[in-house]
Amino acid sequence: MFSNLKPTPADKILALSGLYKADPRDNKVDLGVGVYKDADGKTPIMTAISKAEKRVLETETTKSYAGLAGQPEFHDAMAQLVLGDDYPADRLAFLSTVGGTGACRQAFELARIANPGAKVYVSDPTWPNHLAILNFMGMEFETYRYFDSETRAVCFDAMIEDIKKAGKGDIVLLHGCCHNPTGANLTLEQWQVVADTLLESGAIAMIDLAYQGFGDGLADDAAGTRLMAETLPELMIAASCSKNFGIYRERTGILMVLGATETRDVTQDNLSKLNRLAYSFPPFHGQALVAKVLTDPELRREWEEELEAVRNGMLGLREQLASELRKLTNSDRFDFIAQHRGMFSRLGASEEQVIKMRDENAIYMVGDSRLNIAGLNANSVPLLAQAIVDAGV
Ligand code: LMR
Repeated sequence: MFSNLKPTPADKILALSGLYKADPRDNKVDLGVGVYKDADGKTPIMTAISKAEKRVLETETTKSYAGLAGQPEFHDAMAQLVLGDDYPADRLAFLSTVGGTGACRQAFELARIANPGAKVYVSDPTWPNHLAILNFMGMEFETYRYFDSETRAVCFDAMIEDIKKAGKGDIVLLHGCCHNPTGANLTLEQWQVVADTLLESGAIAMIDLAYQGFGDGLADDAAGTRLMAETLPELMIAASCSKNFGIYRERTGILMVLGATETRDVTQDNLSKLNRLAYSFPPFHGQALVAKVLTDPELRREWEEELEAVRNGMLGLREQLASELRKLTNSDRFDFIAQHRGMFSRLGASEEQVIKMRDENAIYMVGDSRLNIAGLNANSVPLLAQAIVDAGV
């Protein structure tokens, strides 16, 4: 039977990590997978998380099963973080998931149950795994224009033209902030136009919020999502705790489904069943850590300070890279790097140029020239800038 199996298409991001690990060169620079790294190239455990972890371990008395849909204290704390303190609890159903990827997967599953013919509209480009999951599930999808590779900005009029094609009950997948892979984001005015467009058509917004706190700050990064929640009758939010809490391997995410009060219970029932059918109970540990950090005032303050330092560090690296490139090219054509937000920017290099930088300079970025800003440090920025110029980007 297993001889029927065929190799699966390579995941571009994970395959690159494998190539990087296998490279023996000392001066190699990993700008691939979206993992935060400090100036020494380490991905440290945040202090607030370490402290929360000690407290959880000291007080935990059992490893018996916990909630099938997850922990209410985690749901409440995350809803406040994403939607604000006065979130509409009577309209929200929750599912704790295996990371943000799990939340995306369960959101697609829920959409397919509620509307078997639902078509998903995704930005061009989007996180490649969105497409891989939709492909695997056999769900119909189409891209909407989002990023203008000439101006390296959002091509908003084209985006609206395309998402107008989504009909009632179709899904429009949006990145809440720090668009992956481009780093180009919607303004609040643009979010309002998107909300109005979907309100008119009855298409359902699904927001992937994987980088809250990495762009303009915790509240600003959630502003578009909050606006959508205030405007639309129905909405799905897939939020990840991997990046902003630095707990990647704990696989902690949440799906929040906003709808009418009357449909809340049946939505909750369907969500819980999705966990039961996929893996029964979601991982507990990460939920406990996040709930502790968000609800303990001292840990919360410490976490916010740490997150702010991470965010400012990335902004500083963006500024430094843009300024190095300004000097080397005598032009402002790379200034978009300083304007983009979050971990990623798409440089606009060709696949050949990306490979040249990998072969000649040991600089690893994804084939579409997405670079992880957090993989840089003050010393590697000038090397990258020179490599970009040498590659003829
Ligand atoms: C990324 O885009 O690099 C991250 O979201 C990590 C992943 O799983 O791909």
